[in-house]
Amino acid sequence: MGKVVRVVLASLLAVYLTVGLAQPTFADEAKQMGSKPEKSLYDRLGGKAAITAVVAEFVSNVGADNRINKFFAKTDLANLQVQLVNQICQASGGPCKYTGGSMKEVHKDMGITAADFNALVEDLVKALDKFKVGEKEKNELLGILGPMKSDIVTR
Ligand code: HEM
Repeated sequence: MGKVVRVVLASLLAVYLTVGLAQPTFADEAKQMGSKPEKSLYDRLGGKAAITAVVAEFVSNVGADNRINKFFAKTDLANLQVQLVNQICQASGGPCKYTGGSMKEVHKDMGITAADFNALVEDLVKALDKFKVGEKEKNELLGILGPMKSDIVTR
């Protein structure tokens, strides 16, 4: 091999090694990000049993909350609980199907204010904290429910 050819080949090899080996592989990136793809929020919350426990506590908190419990005076709370569990289960990526009405339709004649909405969210957060739901999962769930505010608050 001529000297020029050898120098060119050596240079190409050097460039190849530098560029090629410096590229992180898919496996490297996965490792860096904590390996496995993340579980659904549903799974991280603990599945249907854990969601049911939180919602039962939540509904109980709402029933005891004098700021907003008048709204629920004529409500079948057992049914509300089933609807809420299915709604949260489905919205968090679980295998349930919510069969209730749209948030807009359900709450349209209630005259709910932002203060009422915030009180209800507080009652939910209390329930999530009681069951030691992680900060990340709590925020993800609130991030799903938050945008419903504009359909629920009408006053
Ligand atoms: C993100 C917040 C909220 C969510 C996710 C939510 C969700 C639901 C769901 C799933 C139902 C059952 C619907 C059905 O049976 O078809 C429901 C009913 C109801 N909600 Fe909400 N809601 C929220 C906020 C509020 C607030 C702030 C109030 C009042 C303070 C309220 C008052 C009611 C009442 C009174 C019912 C029962 C209606 C009946 O008796 O049939 N909700 N809600």
